[in-house]
Amino acid sequence: MILVTGATGHIGSEVARRLAGRGQNVVAMVRDANAATARHRLPFSMPLRVADYEDIRALRTAFEGVDVLVLISSDGAASAVRRHHANAIEAAAAAAVGHVVFTSILDTGELSPFYFSSVYRDTERQLAHCGVPSTILACGLYSEFVLDNWLLPCAASGELALPAAYGQFSPISRADVAAAVAAIAARPGRFPEIGILTGDRLLDFDDICAIYSEASGRSLRYRLCSIEEYSAAASARLDEPWPHAFASLCASIGHGHYNFTTSCFAAVARRKPESFRDFLMRTISANLRDGIAKH
Ligand SMILES: NC(=O)c1ccc[n+]([C@@H]2O[C@H](COP(=O)([O-])OP(=O)(O)OC[C@H]3O[C@@H](n4cnc5c(N)ncnc54)[C@H](OP(=O)(O)O)[C@@H]3O)[C@@H](O)[C@H]2O)c1
Repeated sequence: MILVTGATGHIGSEVARRLAGRGQNVVAMVRDANAATARHRLPFSMPLRVADYEDIRALRTAFEGVDVLVLISSDGAASAVRRHHANAIEAAAAAAVGHVVFTSILDTGELSPFYFSSVYRDTERQLAHCGVPSTILACGLYSEFVLDNWLLPCAASGELALPAAYGQFSPISRADVAAAVAAIAARPGRFPEIGILTGDRLLDFDDICAIYSEASGRSLRYRLCSIEEYSAAASARLDEPWPHAFASLCASIGHGHYNFTTSCFAAVARRKPESFRDFLMRTISANLRDGIAKH
């Protein structure tokens, strides 16, 4: 039995659907079985277990009889995310889960300025010592994240001002992350204990803006700005911790912490990852077709 947490979310629901499509025995863990996302993103017949990452006893019960736990990382303030991951790992060990597949981040180094680095460093250490075999899948920046949080908010102004210097990174779509997670969860013993999922091409923000301009037909230029300027602009539309989290992520990109690609996705999925250009073309044409901003 494979249990997928975060199953109402973008990645978790896609992982659960893909595993079900491969004929696996899948259970979806949700916070609210009546949520619209549970009804719309998961097959009607998929068994649900209800638990919140805050509730270690509910997690322990939800993980009963589970062979493979796909632990989709939590989101929110760093202290809450750290606690959620710790609860899930402690519950997995108590329930004698057979294997944990965890979606981590690329940027867990001691020198990283990124807001979430220490959280994921702690989670990975806890996983390594919890007594349950695990696979850590460090995921690059989602293409959707770049589009939603950086490109779309400034598209009308024609200028993307970020404190990311000329750092490069290699975005990967959520669909590709989910495809890799599902393939590994289906046969965890066949893959290494640590995988790093990135796209296959390094881009800086000049490249990202050029690709967006071409795909959308709207000119967008990158301008390097200070952390203070970005944080002030982001604070006008986002609550903490996001202005600080995104500014520190830009700083980390600028310091070169995302400046690499891996062949992990191709090794697992046996195809190339979707390029950022193809992702944008697909997303923009889907939005035009639907007449709404969704990805
Ligand atoms: N690499 C990147 O660029 C990037 C960017 C953003 C986020 N992330 C990370 O990747 C994860 C998956 O991404 P996504 O796009 O699938 O996110 P998403 O669509 O926001 O889904 C998050 C899932 O986590 C669940 N969740 C949140 N808090 C929970 C709690 N306290 N207890 C139980 N479940 C809880 C949500 O349940 P509800 O539906 O009940 O809220 C939802 O199912 C995120 O959670 C975040 O850690 C990575």
